[in-house]
Formats: sequence, C-alpha cells, structure tokens
Amino acid sequence: MGDKQSTKRGIVAVDGPAGAGKSTVARILADHLQYLYLDTGAMYRALAYKALKHGIDLRDDESLADLLKDTEIILQGQGQGGVQVRLDNHDVTDELRTPSVNASVSQVAGLKTVRTEMVRRQRHLAENGGVVMDGRDIGTFVLPEADVKFYLTASLKARSQRRFDELARRGYPVEFRRIQEEISHRDLLDESRHLAPLAQAHDAIRIDSTDMEVEDVLARMLAVCRQRLL
Ligand code: DC
Repeated sequence: MGDKQSTKRGIVAVDGPAGAGKSTVARILADHLQYLYLDTGAMYRALAYKALKHGIDLRDDESLADLLKDTEIILQGQGQGGVQVRLDNHDVTDELRTPSVNASVSQVAGLKTVRTEMVRRQRHLAENGGVVMDGRDIGTFVLPEADVKFYLTASLKARSQRRFDELARRGYPVEFRRIQEEISHRDLLDESRHLAPLAQAHDAIRIDSTDMEVEDVLARMLAVCRQRLL
C-alpha cells in the first residue's frame, strides 16, 4: 500500500522486442506499484487465435476488422501480477503462446484497421492512469504522454533462450534453432512494418537485460518509477 499512497496514479510504458522479458517484469512492477498490468500483445494474440480458429485469411484486413468488432477481450488481473485473458468470456490464457499463434500474430498486428481499434481500446483502458502497459508502440504511439517509458531489450540469443525455456517448460517439443529463426523473423516484421514499427521512444530508458537477472531489471525499473511517480 505504501507505493500506492505515495505515488500518483501514473502511466508506465514498457516496450521492446519479443522475448525481452517485458511481460515478466511489467507484471511484477505493476504488482509493486499496485497498478493494473495491461499486456497489449495478449490482445493481438487473442485476435490471432480467434481468427485461426475461424479459418479467416490473416491478410484480409476487412474480415479481421469485422471479427474484432464482434470480439471482447478482457485482461483480468488475478492478484500478484497474474493475468487471465478472457476472449468472448472464455479463458484463453493458455492458448495464446502456442507456436501457431506465435507464427501468425505479427501479421494480424500489422493490419491498419486492427491496430486502430486495438489502440482505441488500449487508450481507453489507460484513461484513469494507474497502469503498466507493455507492447511495442506504447511509448511512441499509444500513450506518448506516459510518465515513465522503458525500452527493454536483450540479445537475440538470450531472448530465444528464454522463449525456448518457456515453451519447453510448458511441454512443447521445440528446437532452439527454430525458435531463434522465428524470433528473428518476428523482429524483422515488427521493426520494418509500415504501421507503428517497433522503435525506442526518444525519452525511453533503455535496459539491456542480456546479462541481468529479473530482480536487477526490476530494481532498476522500480527505482525510476518511485522517482518519477512521486
Ligand atoms: O509481446 P508479444 O510477443 O506477446 O506480442 C505479440 C505480437 O503482437 C508481436 O509480434 C508484436 C505485436 N504487438 C504489436 O504489434 N503492438 C503491441 N502494442 C503489442 C504487440
């Protein structure tokens, strides 16, 4: 409660490439600050998951936009930084990090009408402050007025290793080389896309976590937040 009472209900943006550990640290940070944790990647993932399930062509901007209009995505805090993703009132949390969603989400996130609607929803969620939002374009585009912006990155090898460990832990038969290729491909798509490409905001604090433990990254972020959100 101490943090909650001594800090204003600000906005913290956490951006960076796939596998940089954003969601891990952002959710713990939110818990410490007693803020809401909003994982915008999960919103794009939920839509990609639904589109795959309905057999919709992922390049078809109009169909995806229509699908999104009929789609409710709720990011529900579960305490201690846990988040449940509810898609049309079903818990899909465990379905969003599968290899098939990993392989299709960049395409869905690259569509103009999809982004316009997602950004509208994200701004609405942040309206009252008290949020840590993680994504790719939060500090640059979604919430450029954020009080604190972090750009969290790590080497391709470190990020691939983390994804590999995560998938292996969850029982997916994966090959490190394939994961590395997939992340590198996703980096390329995220960085080179015409709309809201992944980029560091000019006023973001860059943290390279390649050789850092989660606790150290978190301590650094918390120190900045305490200073800026006073
Ligand atoms: O952070 P993540 O890996 O869960 O993100 C999934 C995909 O969604 C990723 O390929 C980039 C995209 N994304 C985006 O374009 N904009 C965001 N704000 C968040 C994610």
